[in-house]
Amino acid sequence: MRKKIVAGNWKMNNNFQEGIDLSNDLVSKYKKSDKNKELIILPPFIHLTSVAEKLSNSKIHLGAQNCHTEGRGAYTGEVSARMLDSVGVRYCLVGHSERRANFFEDNNELKKKCKQLVSNYINPIFCCGELLRDRKYGSYFEVIEDQLEVLWSLSKTDFEKVIVAYEPVWAIGTGETASADQAQEIHKFIRRKISDEFGSETAENTSILYGGSCKPSNAVELFFKPDVDGGLIGGAALNTVDFLAIYNAL
Ligand code: PGA
Repeated sequence: MRKKIVAGNWKMNNNFQEGIDLSNDLVSKYKKSDKNKELIILPPFIHLTSVAEKLSNSKIHLGAQNCHTEGRGAYTGEVSARMLDSVGVRYCLVGHSERRANFFEDNNELKKKCKQLVSNYINPIFCCGELLRDRKYGSYFEVIEDQLEVLWSLSKTDFEKVIVAYEPVWAIGTGETASADQAQEIHKFIRRKISDEFGSETAENTSILYGGSCKPSNAVELFFKPDVDGGLIGGAALNTVDFLAIYNAL
């Protein structure tokens, strides 16, 4: 049975102390409700080692927001998947729309990142999603299909470590959420594509999260849909009460 997951992407927010305070607050208030439900936080790099310590006796999992395409070498300022593994990171975002837009990450680069992660025992959280203009022109299925091509470069065994996150770019940080029906339509499409590529059992076991202005007030409706297995949360992950309310909607 696939996992239900809520993951919190802190993005470039919180200085070191604020990040520690947020982790402590979360650990003290979090109650794991079910073994099939998982809570993940994705702090910036500088927080990872200390947050890992704070989470060590909790059931909250640690992830990162990015990694480099190569394992080691002369890449000033970069962080490799191997380094992330060494501090206890078990999940990592790949292809978040902010990185695609601001750092021009393309499918080639994202394939390399996925490979680095899986070979370092880290589960990629692969983000995909269309721009507003793709939605308006009705080309969003093609856009997502093209983005998913990254995942078809993995072996079936490696793909089985992947979590997919559908994040329509027009809904990220805008306060505008995709309706539960819009999310379900795409999640179902993604699951069908996985099934075409790796078979229906793998597709049924893959968690597909929704992201984009997910909050306590809309989480229940979104998570109720059969192919929506949880959420990738940005803004609301910076507030413990909201973040846990979203988790409790799983
Ligand atoms: P948001 O961000 O919840 O603030 O819209 C989601 C994300 O970018 O992962």
